[in-house]
Amino acid sequence: MFLFSPCQVGAETAFKTEIRRLFPNFRLSYSRPGFLTFKVDNSTPTDDNQILEIVSDFVNRSVFARTAAVSLGKINQETTDIDTDTKTIEVEKTEAFRSLADKIWAIAEQNRIFVNRIHIFRRDVLPPGENGFEPSLTPELQMLHHILIEHSPKPKFLGVHHDNPNYPAQPGEKILNVAETDSGYYFVGVHTIPKGLPIQLCYPGGVLPITIPDNAVSRAWLKFEEGLQWSGFPIAKGDCCLDVGASPGGGSQVLLSRGAKVLGVDPAEMDPAVLNHSGFTHIRNKISQTKRSLFQNVRWIIADINVAPNYTLEVMEELATRKEIPLCGMLFTLKLFQWSLAEHLPAYIDRLQYWGFDDVRVKQLVFNRQEVTVAVQRRNV
Ligand SMILES: C[S@@+](CC[C@H](N)C(=O)[O-])C[C@H]1O[C@@H](n2cnc3c(N)ncnc32)[C@H](O)[C@@H]1O
Repeated sequence: MFLFSPCQVGAETAFKTEIRRLFPNFRLSYSRPGFLTFKVDNSTPTDDNQILEIVSDFVNRSVFARTAAVSLGKINQETTDIDTDTKTIEVEKTEAFRSLADKIWAIAEQNRIFVNRIHIFRRDVLPPGENGFEPSLTPELQMLHHILIEHSPKPKFLGVHHDNPNYPAQPGEKILNVAETDSGYYFVGVHTIPKGLPIQLCYPGGVLPITIPDNAVSRAWLKFEEGLQWSGFPIAKGDCCLDVGASPGGGSQVLLSRGAKVLGVDPAEMDPAVLNHSGFTHIRNKISQTKRSLFQNVRWIIADINVAPNYTLEVMEELATRKEIPLCGMLFTLKLFQWSLAEHLPAYIDRLQYWGFDDVRVKQLVFNRQEVTVAVQRRNV
């Protein structure tokens, strides 16, 4: 049994080290930037529950795995020289995708896999945010998705809205995964959707369908929108939130869009679009020099400060353990200024366990750059 798993380009070494520590019996099998496969054992996956448990456990425990699937096989689709005429390219692409679809369904049938939904993704070619690159479902992958559905064998698969490639997969569903690792080179696999976490398993390649709006004042909007969807924090209209390291204000915008009241702490200037929002108050100061009495109604804290992880953890620990703050949860980034800082992640995670939260999670989210996101939450406040 093999698992394949997409990750951020650049995170491969940290990911491999993590898997060696968490799953000492797994063996690295194939490695490309942004995509790794691991040999689990000598068995052949047959049982749905076994697939569900292996994949959910892997994705829940790993910081760097975006999602994962049990591999069923590989396809090397020969690419022929394509004419430069655009119309011919389209026709040839469609033809190539039809023949690919037949091969993919043949693998599924060979393994007697009956699926509810298809997830297609391509390994990233750049780190997120670099040269304008952001992971997404490209029109070409959507076209392949459409052709795969057209070519699906009978009986047809039955997931609701299975023709929408970004519709979230539902608990209990079985997903056919098609991962393009290089031009014409595909891994075919399967995973099943558990009842609760992780949400990444519900989307192709673990990429939540989020696009940055035109009025977002910073790229941080993307990672906080993804972070709030991933953490599932039930931030309600009127909730008081603290944003540490708020400037220029993308994260605050995400909170404001949920109807929250935001205190933004940052010595730097806020973007006027955020500053002039009626729900926003700027405390132009460093967090260490800001009076804690201002936080007596704070229920949620987000933070994105460009300092070493140990300093962020000190700041967050002090806020988390103050009795006078009626805190429900915190969502914050830890910046891995050097990849070698990833070696300290187990120690950082240990430290979080003592802050009194019921739910502690750490993940390198799809829209994170060289950093990871921490979500800690109290269930009964
Ligand atoms: C990556 S930017 C934050 C982006 C912002 N969260 C957004 O959504 O647009 C990091 C910010 O942390 C702020 N910062 C660094 N150290 C800080 C401290 N001790 N207290 C408050 N803010 C701090 C910096 O001034 C900078 O504006």
